[in-house]
Parts: sequence; structure tokens; C-alpha cells
Amino acid sequence: MKESDLSHLSWDEWDEHHDPRPEETDFDRVVEAALSRRGFLSGLVAFGSGATAMGAGLLNSTAAMAMGHGATRFAFTPIAAQTDFTVHVPEGYSWAPLARWGDPLFSDAPATLDPATGVTVEASDRVFGENTDGMELFSVDGHELIAVNHEYVNPGVNLPATGGEIETAEAVLTLQNMQGVTVMEVARGEAGWQIVVDSPFNRRIHHNTEMRLSGPAAGDAMLQTSADPTGTMVLGTLNNCGSGRTPWGTYLTCEENFNGYFGSTDPNFERPAAFRRYGINLESRYNYEHHDARFDISVEPNEPNRFGYIVEIDPSAPDSTPVKRTALGRFKHENAACAIAPDGRVAVYMGDDERGEFLYKFLSNGVYQPGGNTDGLLDDGQLYVARFNEDGSGEWVALTPEATGMSEVEILVHTRMAASAVGATTMDRPEWVAVNPIAVEAYCALTNNSRRALLNDDGTMRANAGGDVMELNAVNPREGNRYGQIVRWRPANDDHASDSFDWDLYVMAGNPEVHEDAYAGSENVNAGNLFNSPDGMMFDSAGLLWIQTDGNDSNEGDFAGMGNNQMLCGDPETGEIVRFLTGPNGSEVTGLTWSSDRRTMFVGIQHPSAPFPDGEGQLARSSVVAVWRNDGGLVG
Ligand code: FEO
Ligand code: CA
Ligand code: CA
Repeated sequence: MKESDLSHLSWDEWDEHHDPRPEETDFDRVVEAALSRRGFLSGLVAFGSGATAMGAGLLNSTAAMAMGHGATRFAFTPIAAQTDFTVHVPEGYSWAPLARWGDPLFSDAPATLDPATGVTVEASDRVFGENTDGMELFSVDGHELIAVNHEYVNPGVNLPATGGEIETAEAVLTLQNMQGVTVMEVARGEAGWQIVVDSPFNRRIHHNTEMRLSGPAAGDAMLQTSADPTGTMVLGTLNNCGSGRTPWGTYLTCEENFNGYFGSTDPNFERPAAFRRYGINLESRYNYEHHDARFDISVEPNEPNRFGYIVEIDPSAPDSTPVKRTALGRFKHENAACAIAPDGRVAVYMGDDERGEFLYKFLSNGVYQPGGNTDGLLDDGQLYVARFNEDGSGEWVALTPEATGMSEVEILVHTRMAASAVGATTMDRPEWVAVNPIAVEAYCALTNNSRRALLNDDGTMRANAGGDVMELNAVNPREGNRYGQIVRWRPANDDHASDSFDWDLYVMAGNPEVHEDAYAGSENVNAGNLFNSPDGMMFDSAGLLWIQTDGNDSNEGDFAGMGNNQMLCGDPETGEIVRFLTGPNGSEVTGLTWSSDRRTMFVGIQHPSAPFPDGEGQLARSSVVAVWRNDGGLVG
């Protein structure tokens, strides 16, 4: 089967296709294990509520709700699940598209998208890119600038003229240009929020944009290629998933499934162990290796070592060179959530989204001073990986040469292997991390893990790509986890620089309409807020947690009553979670930011399955939509 025929697969399924691990079919064994887990699970909730450091623990909060305490802080009436092809928001709110794939950023691009031809190669880096994901809004001298990721492409939609076939260098270049990052000015006029076409701030960053490698791994032999013998300049940023913002006003874009862009024209190329750990295979997802030699690992075996980083972009300076910050490690970066420690050091929390991979923290050595020089802050510091203990405590384990047996550069380039070496806790696919602006705590969405604690045919337990077995642990307590959960931690001494923390589960998604065991979910899941696979997460300025989903939207079986992917809002203090928005069928809701006056929220709708938002006869277009209150009130 040709790679172009696999375009319907998720990135998770695509990895599985290339590096298959044995299928689990022994359903009885799974059920038996689930039943024996009940006692363990109730123990988990009990210590979550009993930990004195966790004043707003899950059980405390649900008990408070049952007693009628804690009036709701939600300024809307929650909505029902939906299964249709549009966006729904609560009564008294409205929405409209702001930017769709193919919308012009510059007036030299066509104003409308022809569904027969899609976006031409000439226009492909002059328009809003495909598959919108993480985003942040920056106010620069009165201009509202949104930096937004374009994670990947859907060739069947993006190349209508070829029926999705990627057989030419032109097709590859067209797809390369549709991914990466857009920086665009937006403004509210008579017609609502719109892109400011030809704004001097507008910019496309794509797979061929020059960027600088910085930090300890920059210049190392592992990062040198024939085109860049210095190992310091690289073309492009790949698979830009979630995002972050620094306290000094720059955008962080996170390279996630970068492995899928590399392949080999030599079918006998022997993949080194590090390639297998990162899922770098002999075929790319989009045929790049046959039309752009640097993506051919048999020609440029170091090129993949130049991707998998967090990239810092200054949205206020359209001519600035993006910088890949190697000190933050190399893995399938989901997003980056910054926090300032009391002494001014910068902590960056980061998830590695693959089954059984890890949660990380970077801590700068330097101190952030408003107005001071910030350029080196993300180049100099210590990388840690999380270890969660069964008793509700946890540690950040420093990834040092002493602890890992690896050099500093090896730790930063082969970070997954360093984390395995120190016994980090295997997680159920860490997606976004969010830091509470009004409490010293952070949250990570663990989206699901179809392999958790299941057995291979030979009776051994399933492992991540590095061989770390994915046994049950207190923070990932369900076999074959298909619903996901959100873990939160509070650093010791209210200090994000601390190397220890207490944790609990804010929510375990589930379906109490279908299950009575752990798959019913935690007590703050009910018939009115059913969801699965939490992914995007962001706090608003009031300290409410917005949760976006990327899961099964079949609305059947285990997922009955959940409807389409959605955005919910959670109150950390009460545990209450309510549904705010539903996406069109087939889509993932991902990416969230606000206008400077907090009266408009911008939400990303990725890969709708039908012609959203324009309807019949048009292409399905990934879009950013604006959401506002009809009375002009605050929305976060
Ligand atoms: Fe791109 Fe893990 O989501
Ligand atoms: Ca995601
Ligand atoms: Ca996801």
C-alpha cells in the first residue's frame, strides 16, 4: 500500500503501522484485570483527597458540590453533545469563522478557494495554512497578532487536482508550504473579526524557512548535514502541534510527529536504535524523501536530529529568524507551558505525546527580568523528567550525564533514551500542559493509551518504543485507557523550581452511562459532560481550565452520549466540568486564545470531515473561529 493511501490514519495509527506491536485480542483477560483494579482505584481517590497539600482534591471538591457549596463560576449555560456538521456554543454566544485554510494573508493570493484546484503552489505560502492547532495572541503596539500552528496536511483535501497523489516535487512543495506557522494581524471591523491582509506583521513560516539552532546541541556533529556543515542552521519546522508563550512575548511552537516526514530511498537502510525510538521509518507520510533529498535518511542521516524541538518565534519582528531551543530536549513535543519561579527562573513544562512516553520540565539557570535580555534563557538550564509515586508524591529527576550515562548533547538529542535511563513514569500520551495563573499548580492532559497494561502474545507486558513496560500506575490506572485523564501537580513550597511535587487526578474521563467500574470515570463526570481524550488545555485569566478533545466521536458504545469533539470548561476549585462548545463531525477542537480585551475567544477546528464552514460544494477547511458573547461581556 502506498503511503498516500494511509492518509486517513491518525499519527498514532501511522506509527503503529510502521512499527507494529502485537495485537491484544484476549478480551477476557482485559476485563478480569479491570475488575481487580477497583480496590486500587478507590485507594487512589482516597489518598488524593487526604493529601493535606491538595486542598482542592477531587473528593473534597465533589463533596463540596454535593453539599451545595461553591456557586458556579461559569458565565454560560452548558450545551448538549452534538453530532452534526457545525459549531455550537451556549445561548447568548455567537461564533463566526476568522481564518480558513487557503484564506489570503496577502493580496497577491486568490481571495477565494477553488474547490477543484485547491491552493496553487504559488499561493501556498501566501495563505493561511492547513490544520490549525496551537495559537497565541500578542498585542504589539496596538496590533492584535495571532501566531498559530499548522500541524500537518490532508492530501486528499489539499491536493484536489491530483486526487491526493503526491507524485511531484511541486506537490511536495505545496504541502510543505501549507504547514508550519502563520503570524497574522487580525482586527474587528463591521464584518466582525478578520485577517488584516497585507499587514507588515503577516508571515508564513513553513518547512523551508531558515531557522537557527541554539543551545548546547547546536553545532554538534550529530546535527551537521551536507547543506549545513556547521550544524547551526536548519530549514523548516515540522508538525507544529501545541504552543506556548514566554513571559517576554515570544511564541513557542512545538514539533511533534516530525518522524513522519523522513524516509529512505534505500530500502536496505539500517535504522539505528534512536531512529526506532523516535519512529523514524523507511517511508515518509507525504513522499518527501523522493522529491527533497534532505528528507532521505539514507542520504542525510543527521537531518532528523534537527527536528523534534521547541522553536521560539518573535511575532513582533517579521524578519526575525526563528530559533530552535535544543536545551528543551528533543521528543514529540506537544506544547510548552511556562511558569516563573519565585526567584525568577523560568520553568517550562512539556509533554511527549506517544504511548508510554514522558512528562518533562526545563528550568532555566538564568533569571527572567522584565525588559532584560531574554535571548539566552531557554538555552541554559536543566532538563528534568517526571516520576510519579503511588502515594501522591512525585519528583522531577534531573537528566544529567551522571544520572543517564549520556553526554549533555546526547541527552538533548536522544532525550527519550535519557528519560528511560532514569526510570521516568510511562504516561498515557502527555498532551497539553497548562499552568494555573491564580494558583501554583499545573495540569497535563493524558489523552488515552490503547496499549496501557495490555499483554503481548508471549505474555510480556506492552512497552513503549524504548522497552519501558507500561504497567498500571497510580496516575495511569486503567488498562487500554480509551478515555484519558487529567493529572495536576503542585510543586513543593509553591515553587515551580522545586524538584518535588504532590499530584492528583483532576478528572478521569469515562462513561457512567455505560460502565460501573473505573471506566465510569471520576465523580465529576456525568451524563451532562461526557467526553473522551482530553488534549488541548488552557487557563483563562480567571483561573478556569478550558479542555479541548481529540477523540472518538462515533457517539456509540463506550462513546455513546459524547457526540463530536468539544471544548469544556473546568473549575479547579470545585472539580465541576461543563460543556461550552462542540465542533463539527470528524473534527478535533484544538488551539485557544483570546483577544486582548478578553471579549473574543479564538478556537481552532482541525480536520473537519465535511465541508465546514462553507457547506455543500466546498472543501472541508480547517478553521479558526471567533466566539463572543452577544452582550459584549468577557469570555475568559
Ligand atoms: Fe498534535 Fe498530540 O497532538
Ligand atoms: Ca494535540
Ligand atoms: Ca490528540
